[in-house]
Amino acid sequence: MSSPPFSCRFRRWVVVWLVILASLAGASVAQASRHGLAKKMRLREEVRQMFYHAYDNYLIHAFPHDELKPLTKSFTDSLSELGNLKLEHLPENYGGSALTLIESLSSLVVLGNYTEFERAILWLGKHIDFDVDARISLFECNIRVLGGLVSAHILATDYMDKLVQRNYNNQLLHLAVDLGERLLPAFDTPTGLPYAWINLKHGVMENETTETSTSGCGSLILEMGTLSRLTGDSRYGAAALRALRKLWSMRSSLNLVGTTLDVLTGEWIEYSTGIGAGVDSFYEYLLKAHILFGREELWDMFLSAYVAAQKYFRHGPWYHEADMRTGKATYWQLTSLQAFWPGVQVLIGDVAAANSTHREFFHVWEKFGVLPERYLLDRDMLHPTEKYYPLRPELAESTFYLYQATKDPWYIEVGETMLRSLNSYTKVDGGYASVKDVTSMQLEDHQHSFFLAEMCKYLYLLFDDSFLTDRNYIFTTEGHPLPVRSAWHEWLPEIYLPTELAPPKCTNQGACLSAMSQKLCPTNLVSPGKNEVPVESVCHVLDFRHDHRCESNNDCGIDSITCRKRTCSSAGYCGLWLL
Ligand SMILES: *[C@@H]1O[C@H](CO)[C@@H](O)[C@H](O)[C@H]1NC(C)=O
Ligand SMILES: *[C@@H]1O[C@H](CO)[C@@H](O)[C@H](O)[C@H]1NC(C)=O
Ligand SMILES: *[C@@H]1O[C@H](CO)[C@@H](O)[C@H](O)[C@H]1NC(C)=O
Repeated sequence: MSSPPFSCRFRRWVVVWLVILASLAGASVAQASRHGLAKKMRLREEVRQMFYHAYDNYLIHAFPHDELKPLTKSFTDSLSELGNLKLEHLPENYGGSALTLIESLSSLVVLGNYTEFERAILWLGKHIDFDVDARISLFECNIRVLGGLVSAHILATDYMDKLVQRNYNNQLLHLAVDLGERLLPAFDTPTGLPYAWINLKHGVMENETTETSTSGCGSLILEMGTLSRLTGDSRYGAAALRALRKLWSMRSSLNLVGTTLDVLTGEWIEYSTGIGAGVDSFYEYLLKAHILFGREELWDMFLSAYVAAQKYFRHGPWYHEADMRTGKATYWQLTSLQAFWPGVQVLIGDVAAANSTHREFFHVWEKFGVLPERYLLDRDMLHPTEKYYPLRPELAESTFYLYQATKDPWYIEVGETMLRSLNSYTKVDGGYASVKDVTSMQLEDHQHSFFLAEMCKYLYLLFDDSFLTDRNYIFTTEGHPLPVRSAWHEWLPEIYLPTELAPPKCTNQGACLSAMSQKLCPTNLVSPGKNEVPVESVCHVLDFRHDHRCESNNDCGIDSITCRKRTCSSAGYCGLWLL
């Protein structure tokens, strides 16, 4: 056999990390010192209180409407306006779908509240009807509602013996099928790329916008694919896969995809692109769909996309945006949504890179008390208008992943800081409120459903991961767990373990070295299928200018052979100069 292709090495890391995540979950309690354990249990109880403060207030003041308005203790029927923070065009004849309750289902199981979980299922099965005149975002409805339902359906089936009445009759699956059916017409376009908006009762509206985002049509496959696996009806997964393939076929020669596109023509609208808003979960779903469904083509897409992202967006620990056609930097901005990236990097074993980015994001959190939506890296200042923090969970999510991979108690302190900030700045009598402006900490009357689906869940799992003991889950981009089952793979990938690679080195605290420190990066890499063609390593960052001229070290990238930072010589050229 020839030398192992790049993809095998990295696929092995996915598998290894899944195993590590699963086994660490079980081993962690024994490994933690008594003191550390007591601290984690105390913090876990604080997260539990946070969840119930948000959840109970929703039940009292908002249920069965969609989301809670914590300042006025009222509600908003926001399902039809998700993705639009201003909630401008809420329909009049729509009374809500208990969105926040659906989003809380899997969190209730993580927290071990099976009685409330069962009560919620029984209520939803009787009262929810998706035959409503509401125009919804396909992306948001898919990740929040469909994802919440299929995940909770699987949990209800798996935890049947914990349910008091034990009479779960697939109510959630019936709802998911009804919803999935209503989402399908969005895919009925010449390109197979779905419309961004669809009316649940009437289908795609006349004069509907044909513009959508890459994440909008590239992050449907986990939920739709799961619905297909659960029902045996392949249409849902097939529609999502077709859209994903089409999207990938539109990539540039640099393997970059843009941010927005037209679903009728299949042409790009916005060429400036990055790992944040509008694209983020596209990357996440390529990898996670490969883990869940085992398709080689998804892995190949992910790997090419990941390497291109590292190459064109990364600048040290930061990620800027670049033009998909030229790779030239466009916007030097941190966006709050980018904070999910280290979590994805942990899954492929790129822990060192994940760690450095996560640290910088956490410093921004410490500086402001929460994470601002957008921060201008080149000018080291807040974006003039996007100063809000709508309780986004991505930094907590990455903290959870990094702690699972390293067991470094520092991440527990990060979680504690985040918990303290949320309680001191965003907790109000009626729940948890979004921050309108991080400089004044002025609040906004909105508790997003993802606060319960993600923020509370990831913080809880950071302090107590017993939910993961002996179970292997991936989490959707909305934090809903889906089980990794070999039966769901179309074929079982042959796990090829090259002999020259030692297993990951783990310390007795359970901390494991990353792929990069294992020297997978960058020696002797070959791209899949193409024999011995060297590919650039994931650590590579281009020099800022093509002629390698520079005024300071900031203009220089990272060398792909050594993964070392290039510096600017006195003659004004980037290189690996000996200091
Ligand atoms: C479950 O949630 C309900 C509603 O918040 C609460 O009343 C009950 O005490 C919780 N049960 C447990 C075991 O935490
Ligand atoms: C669609 O757009 C056309 C042209 O702008 C307009 O005349 C028509 O009334 C619109 N139809 C609907 C249903 O909004
Ligand atoms: C993360 O970065 C910090 C600071 O550079 C370092 O001390 C720590 O060892 C790193 N952890 C991992 C797992 O790479």
